[in-house]
Amino acid sequence: MPIRIHSHRKLIQKWLRYPRCDIAEFDTQHQELLERMNAINEMIAKGGNGETVLHLLSRLTVHFAQHHQNEEQRMLAAHYGRFSSHTEDHHQMQTDLLPALTEAIRRHDPGIDLARLIRWQASHIAHFDKPMAQFLLSRR
Ligand SMILES: [Fe+2]
Ligand SMILES: [Fe+2]
Repeated sequence: MPIRIHSHRKLIQKWLRYPRCDIAEFDTQHQELLERMNAINEMIAKGGNGETVLHLLSRLTVHFAQHHQNEEQRMLAAHYGRFSSHTEDHHQMQTDLLPALTEAIRRHDPGIDLARLIRWQASHIAHFDKPMAQFLLSRR
């Protein structure tokens, strides 16, 4: 069944304006995640099929989990001091933001967009990923 959303903020965030952390591997993953979020957002805006949106959202969830796991392994291996708070922020997003979005799409809530998730990601990169990357780079 197509989902109809009456209000929608047009896309969104451009990678060019997104914060970087200067470790190519992580920046590439962040860009891919942003592109996935933008694609889902566009599909919602066009009244795309609800099942397809949910499928893409579940794939996005998997990609986020893999990316977070990747960062967490690197932090652990380097004995990074802010490991716990950084990991807690990942966890909160995965157990709060993403499931809430999935639920909202299932319920066909009006006004769904991915802006909150995209803002979370930009803020997380600036406040957590960037300091982590600086630490990892300083140890090379
Ligand atoms: Fe992170
Ligand atoms: Fe990240």
